Amino acid sequence: MTVLELLNRSTSTLKNHQIENPRLNAELLLAHSLNLDREGLYRHLPSQPKEREKEVLEKLIQRRISGEPLQYLLARQEFWSIDLKVDPRVFIPRPETELLVEQGLLILSEISFKRTPSILEIGTGSGAIVIALARERKPLFLVATDISREALGLAQENAKLVGVQDQINFVNGDLFGPFCFSKENKLFDLILSNPPYLIRPEIGSLAKEVKEHEPIIALDGGEDGLECYRHLISQAPFYLREGGWLLLEIGEGQGSRVFELIEEEGSFSKPDCILDLSGIERVVKAQKK
Ligand SMILES: C[S@@+](CC[C@H](N)C(=O)[O-])C[C@H]1O[C@@H](n2cnc3c(N)ncnc32)[C@H](O)[C@@H]1O
Repeated sequence: MTVLELLNRSTSTLKNHQIENPRLNAELLLAHSLNLDREGLYRHLPSQPKEREKEVLEKLIQRRISGEPLQYLLARQEFWSIDLKVDPRVFIPRPETELLVEQGLLILSEISFKRTPSILEIGTGSGAIVIALARERKPLFLVATDISREALGLAQENAKLVGVQDQINFVNGDLFGPFCFSKENKLFDLILSNPPYLIRPEIGSLAKEVKEHEPIIALDGGEDGLECYRHLISQAPFYLREGGWLLLEIGEGQGSRVFELIEEEGSFSKPDCILDLSGIERVVKAQKK
């Protein structure tokens, strides 16, 4: 059997099991099994794969059919054109989160700093956001936290792989917990977060890939999906410098409630909302008065 025949057979198997984009999934899993990139795979279409390679592919196809996300099987996800390692310790970074990075960089470019800007990311997961910031702009004083030690371990590995490990301070802890000793110290110019924001009773109806494989702590936003926003919005003013910014990714339809929370808190100027490429409200930004 040639690589092309194996590719066609794997595509049909995935299609028969209702896997979305079966051809793309088959190409990526086959390339991974043969230790090739996609271009390399096309060059090898007429060759004969080894038995061992066919076995590796078969196992991956079965795992994909049983609902494991493609990114975990490939152990990678691209974000901001950076190749990140991902596994079940972390939430898989989504393309729409690049808007948070874009807005963070925009804020930094509009402020004239007489010192190195200091930035805090809460809930860093794979490290996608903070690593993208570290790559794009220097110097920055960067702190990234996560409540999950496992996630933080992988974020540190990713920072090393990208070569920015010396630019980021990784801290384990719950929201602002690690900084409470310095409450009122107003340490940061920008605080940003893509917190868990799914509504707890709705998690059961999510795709199997998400609810059974991604860390629940990365998804569960409490009974109304807003639990983390309440804490972030009420506590951020203690840690933000005057004129500093809070930047939050939000879920579809959460814009007006997050605006209300910010307005009720009272420390921020009128918040603003940025739409993603699908026209959905995705990032809320608010400046401390
Ligand atoms: C939606 S994921 C975002 C991960 C990553 N920043 C991204 O955008 O791909 C939310 C992250 O917040 C972390 N998290 C959840 N609750 C937290 C808390 N109370 N304090 C700190 N981190 C928390 C989770 O472990 C998870 O890594």
